[in-house]
Amino acid sequence: MSSGTDRSYKVGVIAGDGTGPEVIREGRKVLDYLAEDEGFQVEWIDFDLSGDRYLRDGVVLDDASLEALRGMDAIYLGAVGHPDVPPGVIERGLLLRLRFALDQYVNLRPVIRFPNVPTLLPGQSEEDVNFIVVRENSEGLYAGAGGFHRRDTEFEVAVQESINTRHGVERIVRYAFELAMRPDRRKKLTLCHKTNVLTFAGDLYQRVVNELAAEYPEVETNYVHVDAACIYFLDSPQRFDVIVTDNMFGDIITDLGAMIQGGMGVAAGGNINPEGVSMFEPIGGTAPDFVGSDKINPIAAIGAGGMMLAALGEDAAATRVDRGIRAATVQMDSMAAGQMGFTTQEVGDLVVKGAS
Ligand code: IPM
Ligand code: MN
Repeated sequence: MSSGTDRSYKVGVIAGDGTGPEVIREGRKVLDYLAEDEGFQVEWIDFDLSGDRYLRDGVVLDDASLEALRGMDAIYLGAVGHPDVPPGVIERGLLLRLRFALDQYVNLRPVIRFPNVPTLLPGQSEEDVNFIVVRENSEGLYAGAGGFHRRDTEFEVAVQESINTRHGVERIVRYAFELAMRPDRRKKLTLCHKTNVLTFAGDLYQRVVNELAAEYPEVETNYVHVDAACIYFLDSPQRFDVIVTDNMFGDIITDLGAMIQGGMGVAAGGNINPEGVSMFEPIGGTAPDFVGSDKINPIAAIGAGGMMLAALGEDAAATRVDRGIRAATVQMDSMAAGQMGFTTQEVGDLVVKGAS
């Protein structure tokens, strides 16, 4: 939680696996520069948690680290996952466990296209792609409810249930309404779900949106099915300002969102507990092919650092991160690793220069 007005922040760093440490280093460079210039302090506290650590000593997330992370003002995460660790161990045991344990119920994923960023859709401009996905981050299919019955027999049953609570839906929808009201947004809220098939969960979401809409008369609300949303992302992304959606749909559409903003090299996100400890991360993974080559794009990690500054209340510095990123992207050849026209560290320097 924020240390109040003293403007000194303890940030837990989980640099993680693969290229995680390389992109986090650039994010820290930018934030250290701005801290100095804007007169606040960031104390970085490194946590050795990763697929690598798990392979070394079997630890995914120990209780002592979790307790220490609870005491941070924010967490800055690079990427976790290792090709030699079975799928799910690190994802569930570290990333999802942190999201759940710290009740980071909002997964905030801006889909904003920066200047000069090429995408697969040359017809879309910077003006067209500017929305934010508010992904529910604490329940739904991610709750882990379900199980096997008669596993490994021909009568096997696998059940995976989506848990949607009134409390959980209400708090995420309220967060989305509040976001739509911010001066930099356009007061439009779209519920994205699959109400024609998921008639229980979808109905709860729709009822909550309808009820809260009465409290936010200035916000225009509408609805899209998740499959249609995929079409609209490619066809007419201008229609979106703030999208609220459940955990699984949010996971899927934000990967597509990343592609229309310029790829994993630029997509940043925040796992937010507005009353607690939030965690900021580039959405992309560990990029094992690029480890140690100084070729990975740090823009997403730097953007996540900017989101962290905003959450800590350092709005001026957060705005400068955004400015720095925009100054960098106009100079870069591409957002893809190895094709940027600059090294990872040089891109970090471009952002610092653009933010100064
Ligand atoms: C994401 C990731 C995670 C998720 C995985 C790694 C568990 O895909 O942050 O979008 O599904 O939430
Ligand atoms: Mn995902």
